[in-house]
Amino acid sequence: MTNNRLIERLPKAELHMHLEGSLEPELMFELARRNNVSIPFESVDEVRAAYEFSNLQEFLDIYYQGMAVLQRPADFEDLTLAYCRRAHADRVRHVEVFFDPQGHTKRGVSMDTVVQGITGGLERAREELGLSSQLILCFLRHLDEADAFETLREAEPYLEHIAGVGLDSSEVGHPPSKFARLFAECGKHGLRRVAHAGEEGPPEYVWQALDELEVERIDHGNRALEDSALVDRLVDSAMPLTVCPLSNLKLCVVDDMQAHPLRTMLDRGLNASVNSDDPAYFGGYMNANFAAVAQSLALEPSHLGELAANSFRSSWLSDAQKQPFLDEIDLIVTEFTAV
Ligand code: ADE
Ligand code: ZN
Repeated sequence: MTNNRLIERLPKAELHMHLEGSLEPELMFELARRNNVSIPFESVDEVRAAYEFSNLQEFLDIYYQGMAVLQRPADFEDLTLAYCRRAHADRVRHVEVFFDPQGHTKRGVSMDTVVQGITGGLERAREELGLSSQLILCFLRHLDEADAFETLREAEPYLEHIAGVGLDSSEVGHPPSKFARLFAECGKHGLRRVAHAGEEGPPEYVWQALDELEVERIDHGNRALEDSALVDRLVDSAMPLTVCPLSNLKLCVVDDMQAHPLRTMLDRGLNASVNSDDPAYFGGYMNANFAAVAQSLALEPSHLGELAANSFRSSWLSDAQKQPFLDEIDLIVTEFTAV
C-alpha cells in the first residue's frame, strides 16, 4: 500500500475550512447566472488562472469579490452541501467549518439568509452522508471592534446553531488584542473560541490569542516556531494548531513544500492537524493536503496516523464520539505497517 492509499483510508476531521473558500469556479458561474450577478471573468479557466497570490491580502481581495454571487439561502445551502460531499469523499467524517457573516451583511445579505442556508446544507450532509458538523462564526479582523460587536448582536438569535467564534482576514496590523473585549463577551455567551494567528503575523499574536482571547485552538500557528518559549507553552497545553499546507504554499507562507514546518511541529511535540483552509482557491481538499506533506516531508505512516488522530482529539466531539475514530485510526496504521 502506498501512503496515498493510507491517506484515503484514514478517517479525518476538518477543523479549519472557510465555507466561502470552498466556492468552486463552476458553482460561482452557476450562482452568478442564477442571481444575475456579474463577475469579472469570462470562463472557469480564467477564474482559475487568476488564483496566483503572493500573500494573504492578494488572496483575500479575490475571495471577498467571489462571495458576491452568494445571495439567497439556497446558494449558501448548495455551497455547504458541495463542500461536505467533497470532504466526505476524502473520508472526512466530522467538520467544524468557518463562515464570514460580515462578508455578506456588508453587501446587504442578511444574517438570517446566511445561517439558514448553511445550517440547511449541514443538516442535509448529516442526513445524506452521516457527516457530523459544528459551525464557527468568524469575525473579520480588518474591520473594527464595533462592527464585530454589531455582528455578534445580529447572530444572537442563531446562537443555537453556532458552536464557536473565530478571527480571520488580514492578520498583520490587526492583533488579537483588538478583539479582547469581544471574545470575552463571546465567552459569556458560551461560545467556544479560536483565532487565526501566526500565519503572517508574529509569535506575539499567538501569545495574545492565548492570553487575551483565551482560544482553545490556534488556526495556522506556523510562526510560533520562531519562539521557543511559545512552543513550550503550546506543547505543554497540547494546544491544537490547525495547519493548512496547500494554503501556506499558495500564499507564500512557505517557499516550497519541502520547507513546510509540519514535520518539525510533530517532532517538537505540537498537536498539529492537516486542513484545507480555502480548498477552491488553493488547489486541493483534505487528502491533497495530506498527500502534499506526506510526499514533500517524507512522512511515515505513524505521522499520518498521528495527524488524523490529532484532528479528532482537537475537535469538539465528545470523548465518546472521538474514541471509535481513534481506535479505527490505530487499527488502520497497525495493519498498514504490518504489510
Ligand atoms: N479567510 C479565509 N482564509 C483565510 C486565511 N488563510 N487567513 C486569514 N483569513 C482567511
Ligand atoms: Zn483560514
